Amino acid sequence: MKMSGLSALIFLVLISVPMTGCSHLPGKPGPEAPRPDQIMDFATLYKENCSACHGADGKNGAAIALANPVYLAWAGEDNLQQITAKGVTRTLMPAFSKRAGGMLTDQQIDNLVQGMLAQWGQREILNNQNIPFYAATTKGDTAQGKLVFEGFCSRCHRDDINEAAAADLTATGSIAVGSITDPSYLALVSAQDLRTITVVGMPNYKMPDWRGDVPGRPMTDKEVTDVVAWLISQRIQSPDQTLPQSHSE
Ligand code: HEC
Ligand code: HEC
Repeated sequence: MKMSGLSALIFLVLISVPMTGCSHLPGKPGPEAPRPDQIMDFATLYKENCSACHGADGKNGAAIALANPVYLAWAGEDNLQQITAKGVTRTLMPAFSKRAGGMLTDQQIDNLVQGMLAQWGQREILNNQNIPFYAATTKGDTAQGKLVFEGFCSRCHRDDINEAAAADLTATGSIAVGSITDPSYLALVSAQDLRTITVVGMPNYKMPDWRGDVPGRPMTDKEVTDVVAWLISQRIQSPDQTLPQSHSE
């Protein structure tokens, strides 16, 4: 089953409530259970802390796939470490480091990061690839971004997709695609999440990476920055939007 961005994120809200609840349960673990901060193996750490949102094997979860070698090579060890430790503010991605109010030690976070890279990564995968930067280096140009969206994205992402276009998409192995300009969807994702998906795609759902939206015409760093700036601007453009003002990054 594939959920739309919005329903997937709402699903995350629902499952994350009991999860955080659990961590506050009183009582000590039984004598045979290791103390939570002594669990060091990647599989258990991942299963207990990440799989509910990012999927059992690092994919097909409601949040972005981590078992994507292009993603892992692109984000790199330092970003993976930082994000896992500190979370992403104003989103459902929690902070895991004890210092940031989470439950994991630095060693556990390190084991998670090394485990993802060893298990799901491919060191050389980006060699000789001209990939956009991980983080945007400028604010982006929203007017250009609208044109980029029309050129690179709208053949799949449009609200009025007709039968012929839908059939074309199915023929290329893509599935029907939800709106990504819905303000309620955009309210729940960070600019970096949109940038990440635009650059590394969602291989398990046939969302192309930066090389595949227009075959033979990879997106440039500026095009990625501009299209994300335009998408973010859609958060506050809708007349019926009810988002808090603080969402105007
Ligand atoms: C060949 C078709 C295709 C093209 C071109 C395409 N996408 Fe996608 N995109 C998909 C599919 C398929 C999905 C996954 C299904 C879904 O989420 O509705 C997806 C998902 C997404 C998502 C996540 C939405 C969610 O539900 O979580 C974002 C964000 C996104 N695309 C952005 C873009 C941007 C930006 C562009 C242009 C730069 C683009 N896409 C171009 C097919 C495409
Ligand atoms: C309650 C759900 C939830 C849990 C649990 C969770 N994540 Fe996330 N994670 C998210 C969401 C949602 C995002 C996207 C946030 C955004 O909009 O930027 C995310 C983003 C990330 C990113 C950044 C992706 C990027 O754009 O570079 C990394 C890395 C990550 N998570 C790793 C982990 C790891 C490792 C764990 C377990 C220790 C974990 N997450 C647990 C929901 C979750």
